[in-house]
Amino acid sequence: MESLLALEMVRVTEAAALACARFMGRGDVMEADRAAVESMRRTMDDVEMRGSIVIGEGERDKAPMLYIGESVGQQKPDQVEIDIAVDPLEGTNLVANGQANAITVLAASERGGLLNAPDTYLEKLCVGPIVAGSVDIRESPTANIGRIATALGRRVNDITVVILDRPRHETLIAEVRATGARIKLISDGDLSAAISCAVSGTGVHAVMGIGGAPEGVLTAAALRCLGGEIQARFRFRNDDERARAAVMGHEDESRVFYTEDLAPGENLVFSATGVTDGDLLHGVRFFGGGARTHSLVMGYQTKQVRFVDTVHMFDRDRPPSVRL
Ligand code: FBP
Repeated sequence: MESLLALEMVRVTEAAALACARFMGRGDVMEADRAAVESMRRTMDDVEMRGSIVIGEGERDKAPMLYIGESVGQQKPDQVEIDIAVDPLEGTNLVANGQANAITVLAASERGGLLNAPDTYLEKLCVGPIVAGSVDIRESPTANIGRIATALGRRVNDITVVILDRPRHETLIAEVRATGARIKLISDGDLSAAISCAVSGTGVHAVMGIGGAPEGVLTAAALRCLGGEIQARFRFRNDDERARAAVMGHEDESRVFYTEDLAPGENLVFSATGVTDGDLLHGVRFFGGGARTHSLVMGYQTKQVRFVDTVHMFDRDRPPSVRL
């Protein structure tokens, strides 16, 4: 099931990337996101599955499509039940401003394989496969950077940590600077940064700080496929978020969620397609009559990590006379 599903899921992230890449640099955050969401939904509805969105664009009243609990896929009675987590466009601001590292993302698994997380924040610590098992989010960033350096056999000042550039990270940034480690401050996109720290050659060794909880679940799905690790704790912004999380059974801010807690599925599939050029993936490249996309598609059971380079021939079947 996993191999077939992986091929279907890459079609979904590719379609979303093709749709929203047209909005690169146009300064319109809403339109870029809408294009990705609509395209993702349309393509998913073609897939032979009884899919259910567990991580989506928010709750039904706030999101017209791909809301938590929405049914997707053909929904025929004999089809397999699949839980789906989506971030139709991770980095809406990045696309709107024509900046690097925007991706379209989806994870799928058997029922119950992805944590039904509230739309709030998580404090995250993400590392790659060599460091997995060596860090502890309950300890200080200084202690964890020391552990990362030891695991990788590097000096602390040869370690690069990615942190979202937010006022809430002032103390974290000061502490990481004091260790001597290098910092890559990003304006958006901690999910794509977390994947990078599990891929050698990207020059990124850890992601630290507070970011979106939905992105945290998707990060866990990707890192499980790659053998990396995420540790996370809920960080609520207000009482409303706290109350909504409590309804889902997540009131304890001290509980540490590990990779397998966030994405426990055995038949996990993860797919991401580049929208703008990034550290890991090329962005969508349009050419006369078509476009080319670059995706990362992984399966947990199959232990396969594929980079998929697809040429989409929009004009192939049109008579030459109507071609522009
Ligand atoms: P989008 O999917 O909305 O584009 O999120 C981008 C992002 O930067 C995530 O990578 C990150 O987890 C989150 O937003 C951080 O949230 P905030 O901008 O509220 O600090």
